[in-house]
Amino acid sequence: MNIIGSKTMETKRLILRSSKMEEQKRLWEILMLPEVNKWYLTSSKKHANDPSHWTWENQEKFYQSKVLKANYNDVFVWSIFLKHEYTDSGSEEVVGQVSAQENGEDITIRDVGWYIDPNYQGKGYATEAAKAMIDYMFKEVEINGISSGAVKDNVASCRIFEKLGFHKIGEVEEESPYTFYDGLLTFSKYELTREEYAYNENNRI
Ligand SMILES: CC(C)(COP(=O)(O)OP(=O)(O)OC[C@H]1O[C@@H](n2cnc3c(N)ncnc32)[C@H](O)[C@@H]1OP(=O)(O)O)[C@@H](O)C(=O)NCCC(=O)NCCS
Repeated sequence: MNIIGSKTMETKRLILRSSKMEEQKRLWEILMLPEVNKWYLTSSKKHANDPSHWTWENQEKFYQSKVLKANYNDVFVWSIFLKHEYTDSGSEEVVGQVSAQENGEDITIRDVGWYIDPNYQGKGYATEAAKAMIDYMFKEVEINGISSGAVKDNVASCRIFEKLGFHKIGEVEEESPYTFYDGLLTFSKYELTREEYAYNENNRI
């Protein structure tokens, strides 16, 4: 595995860059929308009932500490920017984030995550960003695989795994510390091995 960090990447409609403080407040605003944090939080829900925990004033230092580490070579997290041609404002905008985090002791097997501003969902941006990240992680970082998952009812996220050639390994009932939901959730678990990725690439899946 090559520990080479979150290199800037460009796709047809997107630019993926390592995290900078400039866009973090907008990313926090996106994560605070109920339709996003229903499925995804980057901070534990143990503070769910404490509104003061989730204010920007309180969260800013957490975001600053993440940005300080953003250029470390073992960090694989990208802010997703939509090119100006495709935004409502006509200026480049941050619309979400993708990441390929550690997933246990073997750092060559990653967990992936994504979220997109609801104003821009349903246009294929998460798939486009996730594809670029996964290509980079296999081809340049040379990871051995991805082991990840989504709540079964999160149809859009499960669809991304399927479209990108992951195979479903099963379903598990578990609590998630990274949503506001209390109680057991059914997760669909997905994997993509290095061999499967290479096969899919060769067969253009
Ligand atoms: C999951 C998420 C990132 C998808 O973003 P997006 O940019 O809208 O995704 P895409 O446009 O690339 O769509 C992916 C697929 O899901 C489908 N889809 C999108 N929204 C859907 C919905 N609400 N219901 C059913 N399918 C949906 C799309 O049609 C597409 O499938 P297709 O190509 O077969 O038509 C976005 O919904 C989101 O941020 N959700 C909240 C956070 C989250 O769930 N993160 C992941 C946690 S595991």
